[in-house]
Amino acid sequence: MKKGLLVATGLLAVVLLGNIAMADKGEDSKFSTEEIMKKGFKGGLIAKVAKGEADDEEKKLAMEMLESLAKNPPHKGSEESWKEKTTALIEAAKATIDGKEGAGDKLKKAANCKTCHDVHK
Ligand code: HEC
Repeated sequence: MKKGLLVATGLLAVVLLGNIAMADKGEDSKFSTEEIMKKGFKGGLIAKVAKGEADDEEKKLAMEMLESLAKNPPHKGSEESWKEKTTALIEAAKATIDGKEGAGDKLKKAANCKTCHDVHK
């Protein structure tokens, strides 16, 4: 009985810890979603890229963050919608960095906080 309880507690801990570790960082992703949100989105890095005001290093970091975001599992909502949103972000950011006309506006739209948070946060 006591042993069974210990095993059950141990299993529960593994499941819980696993979930926490998995919660917002994909296996080969460099940044957790929390980091990306704080530095990339709230911190204004993505907005800076969208406005065409980011330097090369910032552009590189922004791309790394968006690529990590796509690799991270969504906190909530469907994988499909997450993939769609994160892919749109990567594509718009790439196009913006490549200097494509209108791409910055697309990036601003793709980076809309509420649209994504409503579904995935
Ligand atoms: C592509 C989807 C997406 C977009 C766009 C997005 N967010 Fe988020 N954000 C998330 C998800 C998912 C979470 C929840 C992360 C978690 O708890 O694992 C989150 C969480 C956050 C958090 C809490 C971070 C923490 O855990 O402390 C902040 C702050 C935040 N977002 C700010 C922003 C701002 C500001 C913008 C717009 C400029 C924005 N986000 C745009 C998906 C997005």
